[in-house]
Amino acid sequence: MTTSDKQIDLKRLIENGRYYEYTKAADPIGSGAISKIPFAEFGSELHETGCTRIIPLDISQHLGCEGPATSPALCANFVRILAGEELSANFNATSQLFYIMYGSGLTEFDDIKIPWKTGDFVVLPIGKEIRHIADTDSVFYLVHDEPLLRYLGAAAMLPRFRPTLFTCEDSLRELDKVRSEAEAANRSRISVLLANKAMDQTLTVTHTLWAMLGVLPINAVQLPHRHQSVALDLIVDCDPGCYTLVGTRISAKGEIINPTRIDWKPYSAFITPPGYWHAHFNESASVAHLIPLQDAGLQTYLRSLDIRFILPDGTVSG
Ligand SMILES: [Fe+2]
Repeated sequence: MTTSDKQIDLKRLIENGRYYEYTKAADPIGSGAISKIPFAEFGSELHETGCTRIIPLDISQHLGCEGPATSPALCANFVRILAGEELSANFNATSQLFYIMYGSGLTEFDDIKIPWKTGDFVVLPIGKEIRHIADTDSVFYLVHDEPLLRYLGAAAMLPRFRPTLFTCEDSLRELDKVRSEAEAANRSRISVLLANKAMDQTLTVTHTLWAMLGVLPINAVQLPHRHQSVALDLIVDCDPGCYTLVGTRISAKGEIINPTRIDWKPYSAFITPPGYWHAHFNESASVAHLIPLQDAGLQTYLRSLDIRFILPDGTVSG
């Protein structure tokens, strides 16, 4: 190699580098270089009619990334499959989780057959071929982490856990157990977290995903909490009068200052941005259920979840 070749190589090596003055680049959200994660709502009308298809809840344009994406790391979808039809759902994702809002059928994951019905959760690692076959008209809420892999420029290769089914009967029985204990302990949240035994450090449903099944009793008034994970919340059932308050600041009494109110609607979804205080309320005459799915498996592993709760005396935990 000649001296002149070396100079050409050096030019290519340095031409993409940049230097920024620290205070101008240390907060790219504040400066507008990268966007905040917005509130967004996705109504049930998106999946109530029409042909067999995947309906991504896509805000990639707002996030400034390749789509579809519902948050920087995750993509939530409604999936509609008509009776007797089938659909392939192969993503470059380490994890995908779907909750069957209604319907019944079977998923073929490589050579494994997974039966499902209304109220079941199915969690899958990367596989060669995933096919859903519906016996009756079926609708899922499905979340996967393909946006994270797209950002990393990575291909999911190694399954990190085994396909897992959480049946409706098992998850509701566990929720009922927690509800009985919660009534005795007067907890502000009555929920079960789905987990996989392979995730014995994060205690989450996969190494990237976190999933909760929660019940919001009549007259429930939750104390606010916040975390750095993004929540992609599905409302399963509710009557008018159930809502979430969301905001960035908390008062000395532990109440959210100038909150945004998100009214719940059955089989609809919304985004709770990271770091925002949020609390759920039920002023209706019926019990309601919600399923927040988050990237908190990853955030917990990175030790960056930073979950905080308002305590009954109005102070912040931690
Ligand atoms: Fe939360």
